[in-house]
This record gives sequence, structure tokens and C-alpha cells, in this order.
Amino acid sequence: MSGAAPRGVFITFEGIDGSGKSTQARALAEALGARLTREPGGSVGAEEIRRLLVEGDAARWSPETEILLFTAARRDHVEKTIRPALEAGLVIVSDRFADSTRVYQGAARAALRGKVDLLHEAMIALEPDLTFVIDTDPDVALARGLARRSGEDRFESLGAGFQHRLRAGFRALATEYPDRVVLIAGDRAPDTIAADVLTRARAFLAERGHG
Ligand code: ADP
Ligand code: TYD
Repeated sequence: MSGAAPRGVFITFEGIDGSGKSTQARALAEALGARLTREPGGSVGAEEIRRLLVEGDAARWSPETEILLFTAARRDHVEKTIRPALEAGLVIVSDRFADSTRVYQGAARAALRGKVDLLHEAMIALEPDLTFVIDTDPDVALARGLARRSGEDRFESLGAGFQHRLRAGFRALATEYPDRVVLIAGDRAPDTIAADVLTRARAFLAERGHG
């Protein structure tokens, strides 16, 4: 008897601002016919919290307050969007998740990884099945990001040194979580990267007996 609830697959994209991860998250979701979501945001309440986080000047929130706001947004996103999709047996792709807090607030903006981990365990307690870190040179990525001028540039305004610390933090995730994190070279044409990501995602899904 198969009493177990169907379990979907949770795939995330991570990387520095302008790395190209949103482009790749969109491409993979489309190729797989998967749900696409993002952080901060991904549910009505979390999108409201997003505005508090990405607009305004860099000193608006302390790193500690940021951890609380990102975790509050994530909790709503998990409750309303991610868990329901997984319980329905779907593949869901998120443009950023908890690894962003580990790297931005836990390492690059401040050394608060212990507090990030405590809150994650108490309030989120969910990890992706597969994570693609789009690894792009910060000078290339910063030029791409600032070219967009979206008005959501609070973190990008922290500058190039900050972006270099972020890149190191994202690369370190592949060592910390070798079972789920895959590093993808981001300094290539978007279609080439997308083909690489799709091949790896399909292999992972086949291994899981999904699709
Ligand atoms: P992120 O989500 O990491 O900030 P985006 O996917 O939004 O990055 O891409 C930032 C900008 O760079 C966009 O204008 C996008 O069209 C462009 N871009 C994305 N991927 C590449 C790539 N591989 N090569 C060149 N430009 C890219
Ligand atoms: P995002 O919309 O992904 O920006 P971009 O497309 O420029 O990469 O994320 C907004 C900003 O929030 C981004 O600079 C990264 C930051 N962020 C954190 O600092 N911690 C987090 O936990 C998350 C999810 C995002």
C-alpha cells in the first residue's frame, strides 16, 4: 500500500546580483514545465516584505534585522507556495532561498552564520533537493545588474568588494553541501548555460524517478 504523500522536487538557483540566475531559473522552469517562484517574495505576504528589503539605502536595516525579515518572508513563502507544490508532487524552482541568507547575512554582510542557522532550523527546516550556484565574475555581474536600474538596488549599492565576498561565499556552499549544490560557470552565453543546467537537472530527476 502506498500511503506516502507524493513528494515533489525543490530546485533553487543562487548567485551574486547580476550573475544570471533569474534568467536560468526561468529557462529551467519553462523547459521542465515546473512552477517558478522567487525570494524575497513568492507569496502575497512575502512580496510585501520584499519591498521593505530591496528598496531604500543600505543602512536602512542592520544585518540582524535583515535576517528576521528574510526569514519572515521565507516562512510565508514556504507555507503558502513551496510546501503546497511539493505536497502536490510538483517540481518547483526558486530564484534564491535560504543559501542567500547564509551567504549575504551569514558571511558577506556580517559574520552571523550561527544566528542564521538557528532561525533556519526553528522556522524553516527545509532544504532544496538540488541547488545551482551560477558562478559569475563580480565585475561582469555588477555591470549587468546596474544596467537594469530597477530601483531594487539596495544590495547592489554595497559595491564591488562586497560582491567579491559574496562570490566566495556562494562557491563555498558547494564544499559545504556537496550532495545538493552544483557550481555552474556563469561567464558563458545564456543558452549554453541553460543547456548545461537542463542536462544536470534531467539527470537528477531521472535518478529520483521523477518525470
Ligand atoms: P540575476 O538574477 O542573477 O541578478 P539576471 O538573470 O536578471 O541576473 O541577469 C542580469 C542581466 O544580465 C539581465 O539583463 C540579463 O538579460 C543579462 N544576462 C543574464 N545571463 C547572461 C549571460 N549568460 N550573458 C550575458 N548577459 C546575461
Ligand atoms: P534578488 O531579487 O534576487 O536580486 P538580484 O536579481 O539583483 O540578484 O534579491 C534581492 C536582494 O536581496 C539581492 O541583492 C540579494 C538579497 N538577499 C539577501 O541579502 N538575503 C536573502 O536571504 C535573500 C533571499 C536575498
